[in-house]
Amino acid sequence: MEEYEILLKLDRIEKRFPGVLALKSISLDVRAGEVQVLLGENGAGKSTLMKILAGEHEPTGGTIEVAGRRVSGLTPTLATELGIGLVHQELSLVPALSVTENIFLGRMPTGAFGRIDWKKAHADARHALEALGVAIDPTAEVRTLEVAEQQLIEITRALERGPRILLLDEPTSALSDSERSRLFDVIRLLKQRGHGIIYISHHLSEIPMIADRVTVLRDGIVVDTLPAAEADEETVISLMVGRQLAEQFPKRTVTLGSPALAAEHLAAGHALKDLSFTLHRGEILGVYGLMGAGQAEIAGALFGLQPARAGTISVNGAPVHFRSSADAIAAGLGLLSRDRRQSLVPMQPIGPNISLSWLAGKSLLSRLDLPREREESTRYVADLRIRPASTTHNLFFYSGGNQQKVILARWMSSGASILIFDEPTRGIDVGAKAEVFAVMSRLVAEGASILMISSELNELIGMADRVLVLRGGRISAELPRAEITQENLLRYAS
Ligand SMILES: Nc1ncnc2c1ncn2[C@@H]1O[C@H](COP(=O)(O)OP(=O)(O)OP(=O)(O)O)[C@@H](O)[C@H]1O
Ligand SMILES: [Mg+2]
Repeated sequence: MEEYEILLKLDRIEKRFPGVLALKSISLDVRAGEVQVLLGENGAGKSTLMKILAGEHEPTGGTIEVAGRRVSGLTPTLATELGIGLVHQELSLVPALSVTENIFLGRMPTGAFGRIDWKKAHADARHALEALGVAIDPTAEVRTLEVAEQQLIEITRALERGPRILLLDEPTSALSDSERSRLFDVIRLLKQRGHGIIYISHHLSEIPMIADRVTVLRDGIVVDTLPAAEADEETVISLMVGRQLAEQFPKRTVTLGSPALAAEHLAAGHALKDLSFTLHRGEILGVYGLMGAGQAEIAGALFGLQPARAGTISVNGAPVHFRSSADAIAAGLGLLSRDRRQSLVPMQPIGPNISLSWLAGKSLLSRLDLPREREESTRYVADLRIRPASTTHNLFFYSGGNQQKVILARWMSSGASILIFDEPTRGIDVGAKAEVFAVMSRLVAEGASILMISSELNELIGMADRVLVLRGGRISAELPRAEITQENLLRYAS
């Protein structure tokens, strides 16, 4: 038997929230020098477990040992002192503060008379970001940055504290392949130095890239822990979902109809320079680009959230000038934005979060369509397997992936005929993805059109009728379905 140094040991951890037993009994250990990938369906309890280890939630049962010593009354401060660092799934940055302040929050470098040494602070922040190969202006306010950049700052902040046990909760959900590979380099370095890492992801393809062991959670229990070499996709999927999965990409052939949404020479933000396209009825038009290629600006410009710098937009053949999202919704558009925190109403349950879209701009009376709200909620809770299937819990308490499903349900039920889905499956587990694609197929078969902006190659290959590849803010290729391959997407994007 090989001997391992155990950094962290959990024994029968339980977490009961009012009305929800989120963790029933979790026992696992983390070894020095390993990456343990933690898998599980949306709502399985992964983030709850991480928050317990970071001292943000108190367990209602079980014990935690750090480096062989039992700890109780874990608080965020104590967790940091014990060398536990967490990169949150739902980023925990302060939007109105600078990048530097967020990285060093509560521990800014001070000079003479205890004054904050801003020059040093910004230089240190820049240096810390460089370790991940990131060039972000440390003086920028965090709220002005893209989700991917915010994710990198969240990671930098955790690394800056030099944790012995690093917990990463879906750190790559918004990152490009190149950013991910830099993160993986940093993780490998930490491994060599004897740190222990728990890594949560819904990207099963990351297992062979980074994992030493894999632990699968289901409904608040550990189903199994296995060496990475035994954790092929088929095995882990069956451990995760415990049922037969539907076909992953249920693509249907649909005859294309008239133009629904078109843009001519659209330019927006810094990155989008020149985009022209026509999206037809019944079509799923994919958009792919590496980070900064302009795809992040498209949705806002089309939806009237960010004024376009140049170009024209037309809906059903007639030119439009949206001044707000209400204008866009009134014209039959729907938008699932890449940052779900912007679209969620956290202190409301599922019903109002879904009905929001079809009520915008309507009179007060027609807002009280409770039977429809109930009917649509029930339908999508079942179709997308939203958990908990409750009509009373506020969305704030839902797991990240389940929140994403609710926002998807909002636009799928909205009756909007032109849907802009910007990174639609971010944070969604492998089983629910198949359900999302099935609903997308149904919507286009019923005559809707979908603009699917995605960084997931296999999803574009599986679902799109055509893909526009962006490079440097312009279209570098337009691929018909037969030519949508990984090689082509990457070749024209880089
Ligand atoms: N503060 C809370 N109050 C009540 N219930 C909660 C709270 N936090 C989490 N839960 C519930 O605990 C369960 C597990 O949630 P958790 O966020 O840990 O899931 P997860 O595995 O991280 O899922 P995902 O892959 O979607 O991120 C869910 O049913 C969730 O609704
Ligand atoms: Mg989670």
